[in-house]
Amino acid sequence: MFVLHVALQGCLRGKDVEYGVTTDTGGHIRYLLDLVEACAADPDGKRIVIATRAFEGLGNDYLRPVEVVSPQISIVRFPTAHPGYLAKEDLHTEIDSFSDALIDYFQSSDNRPDMLHAHYADAAVVAAKIEDALGIPFVFTGHSLGKVKQKALRSCQSDRGFAQRIAAEELALAKSSLVIASSRDEAELQYKAYDNYDPGKIRVLPPGSDLKAFRGALSSPIVEQEMARFLTVPEKPVILAIARPVAKKNLAGLIEAYGQSKDLQALANLVIVAGSRDDIDALEADVATNLREILQLIDRYDLYGKVAYPKNHRAQDIPAYYAYARDRRGVFVNPAFNEPFGLTLLEASAVGLPLVATDSGGPNDIIETCGNGLLVDPRDANGIADALLQIFRSPEMWQRFSASGDRAVRTYDWERHVTRYHGLVHDLVKPQDIQAQRPIQMLISDIDNTLVGSVPHLHAFGNWRRTQENLAFGVATGRSFHSAMAVLEQQDVPRPEVMITSVGSEIYTLSENGVSYAQDTGWLKTIGDNWQRSAVERVLRSVSGVTPQAPLEQRDFKLSYFSDGTHATVERVRSALQDAGVLASVIHSHKRYLDILPIKASKGTAVDHVRRRFGLPNSAVFVAGDSGNDIEMLQAIPQSIIVANYSDNLGRLPALKHSYIASNTHAAGIIEGVIHFRNKAKAQCLQLS
Ligand code: GLC
Ligand code: MG
Repeated sequence: MFVLHVALQGCLRGKDVEYGVTTDTGGHIRYLLDLVEACAADPDGKRIVIATRAFEGLGNDYLRPVEVVSPQISIVRFPTAHPGYLAKEDLHTEIDSFSDALIDYFQSSDNRPDMLHAHYADAAVVAAKIEDALGIPFVFTGHSLGKVKQKALRSCQSDRGFAQRIAAEELALAKSSLVIASSRDEAELQYKAYDNYDPGKIRVLPPGSDLKAFRGALSSPIVEQEMARFLTVPEKPVILAIARPVAKKNLAGLIEAYGQSKDLQALANLVIVAGSRDDIDALEADVATNLREILQLIDRYDLYGKVAYPKNHRAQDIPAYYAYARDRRGVFVNPAFNEPFGLTLLEASAVGLPLVATDSGGPNDIIETCGNGLLVDPRDANGIADALLQIFRSPEMWQRFSASGDRAVRTYDWERHVTRYHGLVHDLVKPQDIQAQRPIQMLISDIDNTLVGSVPHLHAFGNWRRTQENLAFGVATGRSFHSAMAVLEQQDVPRPEVMITSVGSEIYTLSENGVSYAQDTGWLKTIGDNWQRSAVERVLRSVSGVTPQAPLEQRDFKLSYFSDGTHATVERVRSALQDAGVLASVIHSHKRYLDILPIKASKGTAVDHVRRRFGLPNSAVFVAGDSGNDIEMLQAIPQSIIVANYSDNLGRLPALKHSYIASNTHAAGIIEGVIHFRNKAKAQCLQLS
């Protein structure tokens, strides 16, 4: 494959990038160079070109028309109308001349790329022009979104460039074939603010991180000595935070949580690594204010001897700080009000530290993927302290979280990223002939603990699926679309034709290109009648025994909580809603998850909706599940399969007595069930004839 990347910002070159030399020479360049390097190492990465702008004034490197980075990778530079360097806010004036130069380049060469990949909003405008002129499709990576940035600046700064940038992002959403996001937060919340938001076109592909240096990290004498300067009992477990001392990182919130909890102080020390300083007065305002607040809080709660806040450290000491905490069975905390991605959490995971992290932003994905910590509301000091106490008091939990962190090293890896990325680009370039034949049967399966949960069974399922030409395949899950998609792609599950997500409150169908999905907006209208979302929220606030799940789990038509697991709590929720005259369905699963949905939404009603769209009779449908949120669907469909590893008493429910209980677990149970029902139907046919 030949992929051409368009990236216009900053000082881009193949080697020794001068990070920080201009404000736009930052993280997105590192991302791009890491990506192309990993692509070149993949058999599909035959030819990779990065097209950027040539400019004067910052050295000859940025004027070279062609820079050969490696046998497969080269950077080509095109001069535009303005000869000098331009900041991103001013680049929009160069779009036309840059696009023209690129079109000329393609026209004079007989080797055209299969796909363009635009990085950052302005490059998407170029890519859209090229697509119009030459018909080459494009993929888009936003890197950082104008609407988010604008909100963060709370419009106190000038609006320079924002209007163009946001318009370019709208164009990217409308015209690209695929949008690549780094986290669910970006895919589900940040992009949602745009008019052209099209969730089924976005895939979450986390960037790789170089975690090797952290994996086997060891503590060091320098760190041990430094800690001994502060801590009276340095052997105690450690609560570790590493962050720049700026207000949004909320280190003050962590000190409050620690300062207010005598239990926590008795169990653990607090170590705050917040940059290096000589004189606080010489630091930039936000940093200085924040450090003063930290020192004041330590004094207010009289935490002397229990809190360490080293004045200086070197970058190479950081792995040793994580290791120091791990050796003392510590926990890493990120209490930020919002954390866009969460690199420190990945580093801590790689070292083997359990995590307590903000529920706003990227950490949700990390903890979901690795299962190595707890999410907290960063504004809730009690909640932070409780989560820490929970981990410190359960050696079993600490051990499990510590061991699971290794999953970060395997998942947040460029090689993995590129396997998925090339798979998607490949399918976009050569659209397969999906569902040329109309399906005559349909299988809808739950994901967690049904389809997924056993690697060999899932592998067998993939092979079996390929032999099932007339069978439409879909999933029905409690997860959101992007969370589900990431799990399926990470585990190489065959791409479903239908995705029923968020417990049946959303439906997506595979588009003709075989890669993106179209959301069924009609379904939202159907279930939306009578849905009083804010009334449900209000009622649930007053019921004890339930706590809201992370913000990302709350969808337009699904509100999710954790329950204390008791039947009494579920009943209290039901009657509280009834007493308030609020109509909603309450679904409890795994003695832990409590979902509140519009009365018409469930996996069952969604399966029925999809069945009608496919024009299939009820008898042509198979469904498979394992737990409470599958009950409606298993109940509604005659050919329903319960996998052997079921929970929530499914196998003994009178309403499900028609179901087939497989003797195999997970995906093997699904295949077993389908074969069972097909044989049964055949036998009935023979009897009739
Ligand atoms: C998934 C969802 C969660 C939901 C649960 C049960 O885990 O992420 O929000 O409560 O499924 O449906
Ligand atoms: Mg399940």
